Amino acid sequence: MLVGLPSGRPALLSLLWAVAMSSSCLGKSIDEDRNQLLMREKMMQLGGKLVLRREEELANTKLMALKKAELMQAMKTQNFPPSMHFFQAKSLIEKSEVFHILKKMPKGAALHLHDFGILSMDWLVKNATYRPHCHFCFTPRGALQFKFAYPAPPTPAPTQCSEWILLEKYRKELQNVTEFDNSLLRNFTLVTENPDVEYANQDIIWSKFEAIFFTISGLVHYAPVFRDYIFQSLEEFYEDNVLYLELRAMLYPVYELNGTLHGRAWSVRTYKEVASMFAEKHPGFIGVKIIYSDHRFRNVSFIMESVRAAMELRTMFPSTVAGFDLVGHEDTGHSLYEYKEALMIPASRGVKLPYFFHAGETDWQGTSIDRNLLDALILNSTRIGHGFALSKHPAVWANSLKKDIPIEVCPISNQVLKLVSDLRNHPVAVLMATGYPMVVSSDDPAIFGAKGLSYDFYEAFMGIGGMAADLRTLKQLAMNSIKYSALLQSEKETAMETWEERWDKFVADVAGSPQ
Ligand SMILES: *[C@@H]1O[C@H](CO)[C@@H](O)[C@H](O)[C@H]1NC(C)=O
Ligand SMILES: *[C@@H]1O[C@H](CO)[C@@H](O)[C@H](O)[C@H]1NC(C)=O
Ligand SMILES: *[C@@H]1O[C@H](CO)[C@@H](O)[C@H](O)[C@H]1NC(C)=O
Ligand SMILES: *[C@@H]1O[C@H](CO)[C@@H](O)[C@H](O)[C@H]1NC(C)=O
Ligand SMILES: *[C@@H]1O[C@H](CO)[C@@H](O)[C@H](O)[C@H]1NC(C)=O
Ligand SMILES: *[C@@H]1O[C@H](CO)[C@@H](O)[C@H](O)[C@H]1NC(C)=O
Ligand SMILES: [Zn+2]
Repeated sequence: MLVGLPSGRPALLSLLWAVAMSSSCLGKSIDEDRNQLLMREKMMQLGGKLVLRREEELANTKLMALKKAELMQAMKTQNFPPSMHFFQAKSLIEKSEVFHILKKMPKGAALHLHDFGILSMDWLVKNATYRPHCHFCFTPRGALQFKFAYPAPPTPAPTQCSEWILLEKYRKELQNVTEFDNSLLRNFTLVTENPDVEYANQDIIWSKFEAIFFTISGLVHYAPVFRDYIFQSLEEFYEDNVLYLELRAMLYPVYELNGTLHGRAWSVRTYKEVASMFAEKHPGFIGVKIIYSDHRFRNVSFIMESVRAAMELRTMFPSTVAGFDLVGHEDTGHSLYEYKEALMIPASRGVKLPYFFHAGETDWQGTSIDRNLLDALILNSTRIGHGFALSKHPAVWANSLKKDIPIEVCPISNQVLKLVSDLRNHPVAVLMATGYPMVVSSDDPAIFGAKGLSYDFYEAFMGIGGMAADLRTLKQLAMNSIKYSALLQSEKETAMETWEERWDKFVADVAGSPQ
């Protein structure tokens, strides 16, 4: 085996000889080293320290066999859903056996969701717009607006909208209602056949994204729809095995048919009432909490008022209002630093107002926007929404790890909103590999054409986690969703018990399934 070494170097030769002789099998010592490294990395990754029960091991073996088969197939065909745009991947994901297991899996809680992006838009088209007294109009820029009113609402100023058209009457005169309903649906989601052509850059897709909220606003803020929207959303998440939700809600005024308006407190009370009514009919359901949110295009004085409103709401509804956040396109909005005067109000008054800031939902490293991550940390954010840029900030990363501040990862949102295209390259892969605390959520699934949490779990499990992620990863993610929720300690214990019961059933089901 020493053949080919240059001669005349007896010392080196004898050393090599000694090494070769001392381990009669050189291959074995390499194997030991790599096994040790592999074991260390396995322990470091998210969920790596969990010890599975025998039945869980069995379920894991079955799950991983399916996962491996799907990954091998993808490597062969070079067709891998997480590396494709979700709009194109969706139908492939639905064929995946791993996806079907993820749907059945008790996922715990969804901690990063926005009020009106969570229920399949079909429901708005098929139910809300079919209710009596629904009117619509077109803004000068071609956006749709809706309003329920009886008698008919006054004609808007032409700079605002066209004349109101009664939908019921309009539909009666149509040749093809299905076609019209499909066009409404296209107004309510970002889904399109050619996303890369239609949405050339982040600004373009963000403006369509915000336009959707503007368009559906008149539907979802109609009191009877508002109530049913909440109930139906809970139903959709419950069916996807999610037992608890935290919603970023703007709490805009809700209106009645006669024009009466309801304020924020009414809306919070309604969330609370609908959630408890839902819980009565759905065993194991835990509830809903609200993170009152305002838009980051508002000026500082406006946000000062919102922070005061948040403190007031939290005093009125301590068990329902969890805290405060700022939402909207980070790149074009105000930075947290610009809002510091407003955001320091609670601390300066000795009031505890938990923050749940969106931060680092950007590709622009080193900009003032990217520094939202620093300020989220300094302002004691309880969790960080997205934290997409966190791995680029080692000092923030280290401190937030020490303070156990989790990030809320929303893979499909990040892809659709053009932060990353191939989800194998999602920067959170690094954080996942080091066991950084995180939860998976779906942001605005209805607007992305997704549903519940399962699609995002699929992307995180198959794409971001790759072959390294297994049942431990999934279990950790589900447990994290309860651990890092805004539930009280006693509520968390109850929630964990409920989740565990369901988890054991799920594990038994997967472990016992024939293969
Ligand atoms: C909409 O759904 C509600 C229940 O959520 C139901 O009572 C109502 O009849 C439905 N309306 C239409 C127009 O489908
Ligand atoms: C109405 O439009 C839908 C969708 O475009 C189409 O599938 C259907 O065949 C049309 N129906 C009629 C009666 O033309
Ligand atoms: C939105 O709906 C209107 C009304 O049917 C339709 O004219 C328009 O094409 C739709 N927009 C999209 C993007 O489909
Ligand atoms: C408007 O409608 C709501 C809900 O139906 C009702 O409670 C309220 O009394 C009405 N207000 C007026 C001024 O008619
Ligand atoms: C802040 O915005 C509000 C409305 O959006 C406006 O009425 C107010 O004048 C603005 N204040 C400042 C200081 O610009
Ligand atoms: C954040 O927490 C630290 C340590 O508890 C405290 O000193 C500081 O005032 C807090 N800052 C805010 C903005 O709440
Ligand atoms: Zn969000």
